[in-house]
Amino acid sequence: MCGIVACRTTDSAPDYLCESLEALEYRGYDSVGIAVQTVGGGALRLRSTRRVADLVEQMAAVATRELTGVGIGHTRWATHGGVSERNAHPHTDCTGSVHVVHNGIIENCDELRATLTSAGHLFSSDVDSEVIAHLVEDELAFGADLADALSHTIDRCEGSGAIVVMDSHSGRIVGASRHAPLVVAASPNGSFLASDISAFGPRVASFQVLRDGDVVELAAPLRWTGIRPDQPDVVTHEWAGTELGLHGYPDHMAKEIDEQPELAARILDRVGASATNGSLWRSLDLPDFDRVAIVGCGTSLNAGGIVAAAFRRFGRMPAETVIASEAAEAVLSPRTLVIAMSQSGETADILRALDGDNLALCQVLAITNNPHSSLARRANAIVECSAGHEIGVAATKTFVAQVLTGVAVAISALHELGRVDRANTESILDDLRRMPDLLAQSLTIAKDVVPPLAAQLIDAPGVIFLGRGAGVVYAAEGALKLKELTYRWAEHYPAGELKHGPLALVEEGTPVVVVDSGGSRIAGNIAEVAARGARLITIGGAGSTIPALGHSLIAPVDNGFQPCGPLESVIPMQVLARELALDLGRDVDKPRNLAKSVTVE
Ligand code: M6R
Repeated sequence: MCGIVACRTTDSAPDYLCESLEALEYRGYDSVGIAVQTVGGGALRLRSTRRVADLVEQMAAVATRELTGVGIGHTRWATHGGVSERNAHPHTDCTGSVHVVHNGIIENCDELRATLTSAGHLFSSDVDSEVIAHLVEDELAFGADLADALSHTIDRCEGSGAIVVMDSHSGRIVGASRHAPLVVAASPNGSFLASDISAFGPRVASFQVLRDGDVVELAAPLRWTGIRPDQPDVVTHEWAGTELGLHGYPDHMAKEIDEQPELAARILDRVGASATNGSLWRSLDLPDFDRVAIVGCGTSLNAGGIVAAAFRRFGRMPAETVIASEAAEAVLSPRTLVIAMSQSGETADILRALDGDNLALCQVLAITNNPHSSLARRANAIVECSAGHEIGVAATKTFVAQVLTGVAVAISALHELGRVDRANTESILDDLRRMPDLLAQSLTIAKDVVPPLAAQLIDAPGVIFLGRGAGVVYAAEGALKLKELTYRWAEHYPAGELKHGPLALVEEGTPVVVVDSGGSRIAGNIAEVAARGARLITIGGAGSTIPALGHSLIAPVDNGFQPCGPLESVIPMQVLARELALDLGRDVDKPRNLAKSVTVE
């Protein structure tokens, strides 16, 4: 989603801005722009509805000696106003001196725009963010300092967002945020603001995360104003540069799919022992609970479904998933533990859900890949899922990390609550420890078997995914992957629901992917679709189209439930979605309309 960068550097501002915007490309965007202060106190503004590379090309025609090291930049993911150059950020005021980049939504934008227009301001775009430039312009005209002008402007805007303002006349840059990520860092070569630490690259050794009410100016040293008396903590920045490269892979998704077995082993090494002896839960210092609600969106919600099932199966603990954007409808008691599951920790729907009256009395445990995120700061405790950087917009390895981390938390908490004894936690962990091998085996089979299957689906308008029991959530995840990458419809159903309606969709050649974790009932459902001519792709044991399920098959397991269900089934479905998307000419790392970090509701 929208990305913000800003610099006040002794180096070249355009080079820094373009490089750091490139580092934010993975978040997803549809237009891009920069504004750089000129030596004469004006600004050069370049915008494009294409990629960052287009700005780099435009810059080649500019005499860079005319430019200073002061500038701001933005990748836009359209909300208000279509995708066009005039709607791309930075936006300016009527004087052309105030430049603004903004990430978020201004809920009272229409009202503000009407007031500003009737006061004589001229707007040159359709986007809500432009009102900020004109509000700052008014504040400056009344004699306010730039930092105060931004503070007062934020007070007049309803909604959440991060804002950076550059006054090209003075060369000052200030930033502030409300319920949206914005980080600042200082180095011997200058100071920088960004919506995501990836933008800083190797340039800085530490950073600070702005809190609501902070206003910071890029200066040496950084100048903090705003309503808070203290500064945010300084966090060490560990540059993950080598991790971000493709290392010979054609795309990030391919690399991230491949990383899953090793990642699973690392996670189990890290949390395994503390899960079985309960110390993982004790270290969180959270109170006892008698219900669980897992709040999330998309893939994280699917991972939450598996974790909720683990609470129910192993501890007979009532546990449900709550779609974050629908959380206002959830009825929760104060003794409900809310687990907020989010890769980015910046998902606006989740942050808003936690603000709801119905969740306000509950303790919140965040399971997130970003320990510096807004969610991590809001939660009462956090457990990192430590998947490393995931660049592909489609979640793959973070899903596996969330499932394993979440199940480890569940086992640990249930043990401490006296709902699962030590022998049982040990045996669950033994099962979990098979997972890295099962994932590796599934990966090998998927890479071999899936590409020709994907090629056969090139003309299929859509795909049905089925599962039973623990397999249903995996079918959901498979369908989600397929639709986001291929732009074809894909729906999942509990296989038993077929004959209650969806079976009408099945005709000669309809592709149906079945997560076949074994048992006679799913065999019956497979027979039902086969009898109607479906193009069946089963993911199961020996004899399946994709024989990728090992220990997770129901038959060899006593209670028919592996700690994570058939987790290894997700790999062939990731590979299927990626292969078909490539066959269709899609960009698998940056699917259309989607963003990695969904910071608007
Ligand atoms: O950062 P989060 O985990 O909170 O994001 C939630 C969803 O937006 C995300 O999982 C999305 O569904 C994935 N791109 C799907 O692959």
